[in-house]
Amino acid sequence: MPSEHERSTEVPKRRGGISLKDIYYAEKQILKALPKMAKAATAPELKQAFEKHRDQTEIHVERLADVFEIIGKAPRGKTCDAILGIIDEGKSIIEEFEGSPALDAGLLAAAQAVEHYEISRYGTLKAWAQQLGMANAAKLLDQTLTDEMKTDQTLSQLGESKINKQALAKAA
Ligand SMILES: [Fe+2]
Ligand SMILES: [Fe+2]
Repeated sequence: MPSEHERSTEVPKRRGGISLKDIYYAEKQILKALPKMAKAATAPELKQAFEKHRDQTEIHVERLADVFEIIGKAPRGKTCDAILGIIDEGKSIIEEFEGSPALDAGLLAAAQAVEHYEISRYGTLKAWAQQLGMANAAKLLDQTLTDEMKTDQTLSQLGESKINKQALAKAA
């Protein structure tokens, strides 16, 4: 059985598709997708939420560059199939529901899938950074994690208060 220390240093080697490079790539893809989602959204509150999160996402990319600097690496992305799949789903929703009252509800669902992906990745990367004793990197990752969680909450509230009800009412 490996010791505590061996286990903690082993973790990053087993990371598979979870790494700084993956999330760096993902954030850049999200940065490109959010303006399209804002443009497609019909409810002003949803548009605004997407625009606000686009600006935050720009900061997320910068924060990741800072984390790369802490570990002494140049910021570089690596194609992340998970985020491409989630963003692709969002594109299909826009095409499929254009002009329909269900569009905003679909966009909301797609956006929450993106946030849940990010929450999961940042949660893992933050935990690894903590285990490796990299407090500064963990703090930066935690700041972005908080942004993603708040965005997810805002989207949930929009869904509960307005977007989903509108879609269901108009569809009825
Ligand atoms: Fe982000
Ligand atoms: Fe996000």
